[in-house]
Amino acid sequence: MLGKKNKKKKRIAILTGGGDCPGLNMVIKTVSQYAMNHYGWEVIGVKNALNGLLNEIKFDGPDADLIEFNPTFSFNEYVRQGGTFLGSFRKLKTKRFKEANTDEQLVNVMLPLFKKHIKELNIDGLIATGGDGTMFMLNFLCERAKIPFVGIPKTIDNDTPGTEISVGFSSAVDACVNALDSIFWTAKGHRRAIVSQVMGRNTGHLAMHAGVASGADIILVPEIPYTLAGVIKKIKTIRSLEHRDYFMIVVAEGCGLEKGKALPKNATYTVAEYIAKALDKEKIEARADNFGYLQRGGIPNGYDRMLGVELAVLAVDMMAEGQTAVMAGMKDGKPVRVPLKSVCKKETRKLDLNSPIVKAAVKTGIYIGDLKKTK
Ligand code: F6P
Repeated sequence: MLGKKNKKKKRIAILTGGGDCPGLNMVIKTVSQYAMNHYGWEVIGVKNALNGLLNEIKFDGPDADLIEFNPTFSFNEYVRQGGTFLGSFRKLKTKRFKEANTDEQLVNVMLPLFKKHIKELNIDGLIATGGDGTMFMLNFLCERAKIPFVGIPKTIDNDTPGTEISVGFSSAVDACVNALDSIFWTAKGHRRAIVSQVMGRNTGHLAMHAGVASGADIILVPEIPYTLAGVIKKIKTIRSLEHRDYFMIVVAEGCGLEKGKALPKNATYTVAEYIAKALDKEKIEARADNFGYLQRGGIPNGYDRMLGVELAVLAVDMMAEGQTAVMAGMKDGKPVRVPLKSVCKKETRKLDLNSPIVKAAVKTGIYIGDLKKTK
């Protein structure tokens, strides 16, 4: 059972929302320990994202919805693990939430429960990790429940507006580079083109960074249209100039078909398979691979742990200063305060085509599509 609130102490809740990624456990640890030890607050960990606060709350047992942290709680094993020990969900679990079809209906069923539980649990503020969607929804609910909200960006796609980097991205780049380093030997040994598909529904940050870091020959991202003729031409150039007959191709899952055409909704193939098939037709032996969740799991690297600590400290400080509707972001390598209004109004943060990584890809002769055809 949750301990009775000490009336003199502030009590905050922390949760992790959206898709998991490495580094979240360091955020949970830092927010909790800094808030408890430095500010003397009480901290409640909410399990399974917003689900832990909306359904009938279970206080005890293995499937309890809340963890009441205290200064002796041991976070140390968790920070070395991937995922989030609080759990996360993209969707709300209960039937009544699933049946709410519009945002308005969803809010109508969620808001009364959210307000009720926030009041019953005496929560004075909420800190949460998430992408722009999660942060927008939580801020909306907090505003109406009259408690402050502070967000911390996380996503392996690195596409949250208002921050140059999100927790999880760097470890995901490492995971992709490791996988590409393994695949290289099969490509070389079998003299094949291997088309490796990495995550990135709308953006190509992960594909571009992992591709450049692993020495890929071709990198395809949603931001830049490409042609199959361009891909084939690049392969033929490598053959004639380097006398090399194995090729590394990295594609973002959202890069679509050639010339900016979208993958059909009911497609039974991936973009990597589409490209591999086109190469096979040209007598270039090709295989497709899809890295899937190995990119999102795994041990957080050093950078993501440091980032998690820096952003969590700023998030708690902002909460202490009474700020709300804000996100702790990164700009020029430093933690900065970002109004959520500016995060949620903007489109997904696309790969900057003038960024050093894109320029370097072009200058070193990697085929990345047709930059002139970008909008
Ligand atoms: O949001 C990050 C992301 O990794 C996307 O690139 C990918 O499309 C998606 O998650 C997959 O999410 P889910 O596990 O919910 O299907």
